[in-house]
Amino acid sequence: MLISPSILASDFSRLAEEVKSIENAGADLVHIDVMDGMFVPNITLGAPVIKCLKGKTKLPFDVHLMIEEPVRYIDDFASAGADIITFHIEAAKDVKATIDKIKEAGCKPAISIKPATPADVVFPYLDELYMVLVMTVEPGFGGQSFMRETMPKVRAIRDEATKRNIDLKIQVDGGIDDKTVTEATENGADVLVAGSYIFKAHDRKSAIEKLRNT
Ligand code: DX5
Ligand code: ZN
Repeated sequence: MLISPSILASDFSRLAEEVKSIENAGADLVHIDVMDGMFVPNITLGAPVIKCLKGKTKLPFDVHLMIEEPVRYIDDFASAGADIITFHIEAAKDVKATIDKIKEAGCKPAISIKPATPADVVFPYLDELYMVLVMTVEPGFGGQSFMRETMPKVRAIRDEATKRNIDLKIQVDGGIDDKTVTEATENGADVLVAGSYIFKAHDRKSAIEKLRNT
């Protein structure tokens, strides 16, 4: 199980300290939400901010791109220090070319699907992917409620990967806390993103431990 706290819920005026705090609390990755105000109705941060964070933590950067035509910016995010690059299949014209670009840039490729996007759209690419991100809320904002109706998609992707003997990570993102986590992991998720639940916790270390062990 990998825990990837989303800095969207952190205090951006103290970003480096916030990232250090989740590293000390036992996180495995740091989840960085990039939004362009086009693919989703919100704007967050871009490659220059990610570049500033590199060197402030040993945690790998799990970059979740919620941007139109992500292929245009893969090189920027890779040179800023991204380790995993996740893009939305709904936003990419040429999915294969986007995966290839991420690999050529030396990063691990992942595809994300929105709640209304069926699971089987990712099946043709499973051999090439490090991870699939099944959104458990509509992308765009932190602090929303977990959509349990997305769980059959996690199950379908896990079963397909098992059937084809593919070593695949499945990430869930949105509304993950100590109550919703069980359903996600029971269905086959093994990378957990949590923003509010971890950053708003009094004790971030025990929040991370709870997610890992529930
Ligand atoms: C939403 C983002 C999430 C968000 C999760 O579009 O992709 O990563 O930060 O926040 P919580 O855990 O608060 O639902
Ligand atoms: Zn995210």
